[in-house]
Amino acid sequence: MRRQVCVIEGDGIGREVIPPAVEVLCAVLDGVEVVSAEAGWECFQRRGGSVPPQTLEAVRACGAALFGAVSSPARKVEGYRSAILTLRQELDLYANLRPVRGVFAQPPAAQVDMIIVRENSEGLYAGRERREGDTAIAERVITLAASRRIGRRAVEMLTRRGAGRLTIVHKANILPLTDGLFRQGVMEAVEEARRGGQAVEVEEMLVDNAAYQLAVDAGRFAVLVTTNLFGDILSDVAARWCGGMGLAPSLNLGDDCAVAEPVHGSAPDIAGRGIANPAAAMLSAALLARYVWKEEDAARRIELAVQLALQTPGENTTAAITRRVLAALETNAMTGGMQV
Ligand code: IPM
Ligand code: MN
Repeated sequence: MRRQVCVIEGDGIGREVIPPAVEVLCAVLDGVEVVSAEAGWECFQRRGGSVPPQTLEAVRACGAALFGAVSSPARKVEGYRSAILTLRQELDLYANLRPVRGVFAQPPAAQVDMIIVRENSEGLYAGRERREGDTAIAERVITLAASRRIGRRAVEMLTRRGAGRLTIVHKANILPLTDGLFRQGVMEAVEEARRGGQAVEVEEMLVDNAAYQLAVDAGRFAVLVTTNLFGDILSDVAARWCGGMGLAPSLNLGDDCAVAEPVHGSAPDIAGRGIANPAAAMLSAALLARYVWKEEDAARRIELAVQLALQTPGENTTAAITRRVLAALETNAMTGGMQV
């Protein structure tokens, strides 16, 4: 089978962690065709845009992309817009799936196995900020349609698991109109599923409490659905259970396009030294296999190999970890994935 993946290394350690992730993807799946494209800060400096139209076209044509990381200037630069935010908006990648699995942590927090479903298209990321004299105002946009569609994705995630409950995270006590509407949209998706005969267990949680619960016991969650900025912050809190930012994967998902992306940034402080952990990029590639190409076996093989590689003592350079993952893939192939 032919599968095209648009590979966007981006800036900083993106260039170091993406090639190994592509190697791993090609090792578990036949017929992966790589199309390279540019995005990011260096691309902006060279070409005048952080996401050139050719890159958008390439991602659309492939339907799947693997994105490394991009740097952003610390000050406002005229005409510059964050590459990942541009991709999310232009391609309508409205769901951000951020699985949190303790098996990758050291020491393993194996009981944690949850997923954060972050609304990825509106909220405080709508970019509506303005200045009125000495007052600055940001508008937080919540629509029923976007809340319903993220609700459907979240219910779908719960159905895949076959167990646990859906936690709707909001701050409707303080923001009754916006977060009230978010809750309504998600609940409509839940009711829809229930009418279709599915049992969906739901709870609600205020975002501050959710942050605390995630910090002390992420194992109590199954699927957590929330608005854009809350999801951004909570997924960093939860990354602690993944074993740190170097191990946290994500998938920006739309209806006909997806961009996988390690949650970590471009890490200019360690870029070029060959010490970036490629695990999050590999685990993100596994999400393309699972959710875009429906290759559950391939996704599991990558995850098992990463797990095994991280548990095997050795040098912790990008190249050494990659070698251990590739070796683990071969071992798993021989034992039918029963290694771990
Ligand atoms: C993330 C990142 C992005 C976000 C940044 C890089 C714009 O923090 O993917 O979580 O805020 O969504
Ligand atoms: Mn973030």
